[in-house]
Amino acid sequence: MRPNLLDVEHVNKIFTRGGFVSRRVNHAVNDVSFSLAADKPEVFTIIGESGSGKTTLAGMILNSLSPTSGRIRFRGKDLREIRSRRARLEFMSHVQAIFQNPFDAFNPLKRVDRYLFSAAQRFVECRTSEAAAERADEALHKVGLSLAEVRGRYPHEMSGGQLQRVAIARALVSNPSLIVADEPVSMIDASLRVTVINLFRKLRDEFGVSIIYITHDLATAYYISDRLIIMQKGRVVEGGDARTVLAAPQHPYSIKLRQAVLSVDDAWRDDTFTGGMPATAT
Ligand SMILES: Nc1ncnc2c1ncn2[C@@H]1O[C@H](COP(=O)(O)OP(=O)(O)OP(=O)(O)O)[C@@H](O)[C@H]1O
Ligand SMILES: [Mg+2]
Repeated sequence: MRPNLLDVEHVNKIFTRGGFVSRRVNHAVNDVSFSLAADKPEVFTIIGESGSGKTTLAGMILNSLSPTSGRIRFRGKDLREIRSRRARLEFMSHVQAIFQNPFDAFNPLKRVDRYLFSAAQRFVECRTSEAAAERADEALHKVGLSLAEVRGRYPHEMSGGQLQRVAIARALVSNPSLIVADEPVSMIDASLRVTVINLFRKLRDEFGVSIIYITHDLATAYYISDRLIIMQKGRVVEGGDARTVLAAPQHPYSIKLRQAVLSVDDAWRDDTFTGGMPATAT
């Protein structure tokens, strides 16, 4: 049988601070388990309030943090076995990250096309600048941009939505099968969010990429998720098919979360999502 794309098995992360006398223990991720199938690309969402352990969990999936206990496997392989530089590079070509603020992900003094070229050289071993440019252009087309549009531009010359799409294009250069996106639209202007969110759908449907979408926003989660888990204080308190969970949450925390978020986000959700793609989306 083909192994799953990802298995998160009883994963814990405990941070300890202080010394012998004033030791503080923070159980940031507490016994979390879920799997993503290999043959069924999906948008899997992790929802939870600030401090619930979402980024810590993402860090472990990206293999930049190691679990205190439990195991994470990518295509059946335990992430702890990834040690050599070569193995790490190989893993990174399959599993890519998108972060909250695209302006933090790019050096303001470096032209954005350089990032795509270096990803092409690093992951796909494009040896000539023509080959790297071709690869960059291909990735940019997947996000609705082109190399001609971004060539020579600096981060501040682009909108947050555009720059986040460039970040996604950079992640796509290596043809990953999983993208971990940690609050990818929370710093982006509301009118541009839907373009980025729709892109995740497209990546799933047209390119077979699975997305782990981390958010505290139920409206976007409802709109694009196939499945989701809701985290509170490091634990998964509810999970399953996204529409079922969000339409009829069972856990008291999920019910409270739904009420709180929907009342705040109603106005935004109504005009952004029921009105289709905003005409100004760039
Ligand atoms: N490197 C660290 N050292 C010690 N504690 C940490 C570290 N990273 C995270 N924590 C703690 O772990 C808990 C979970 O943090 P985490 O960043 O994963 O939450 P989050 O759900 O991503 O929150 P947010 O929505 O604000 O991004 C918090 O209590 C945080 O203070
Ligand atoms: Mg976080």
